[in-house]
Amino acid sequence: MTQFTLDAFVADARIAASAPDPLQATCTLMQAALAGAAQADLPDFEDDEILLFEDETVSVWHERFQPHEILPPHDHAMIAVLGVYRGRERNDLWRNDGGVWQRGGTLTLEAGQQHVFAPHDIHSVQAEDGVPSYGLHIYLGALTKVDRHLFDWDTGASVPMSEAAFMSMKRT
Ligand SMILES: [Fe+2]
Repeated sequence: MTQFTLDAFVADARIAASAPDPLQATCTLMQAALAGAAQADLPDFEDDEILLFEDETVSVWHERFQPHEILPPHDHAMIAVLGVYRGRERNDLWRNDGGVWQRGGTLTLEAGQQHVFAPHDIHSVQAEDGVPSYGLHIYLGALTKVDRHLFDWDTGASVPMSEAAFMSMKRT
């Protein structure tokens, strides 16, 4: 097996996104990539969220979540294949059923595991165990170009996704 690199991962993600079954191809790629990334000597990025590539068909991000902050409930507005290659992350799932805002359960992803989020799935997320978690995310569309939402922690009221709203709604 060839050495995992982020450049090769992006190239493979672009191919997977244009496969006859993009979701299946992307999940297959992600499973191999998580194993490869765990063994690779990847750069220690300064920022927690790094956009590696985006076009109309696919967005590829390197993600680092922190244990001392919880990213606020949000959707992705497209299919999201989210994987963890180091550490452990806790996803709290949220639902808005007929205007009733409630928690929908907890999903913990260990290193090597991935999960597919549907476009309207809502989650908040943080690293577990007191150390950062590291992940690879593939979205089947142009993530920065679509209208996404943040949701009030208590009421579920939605607001448009923006950097400012995202930062102000983080919990520590
Ligand atoms: Fe997310």
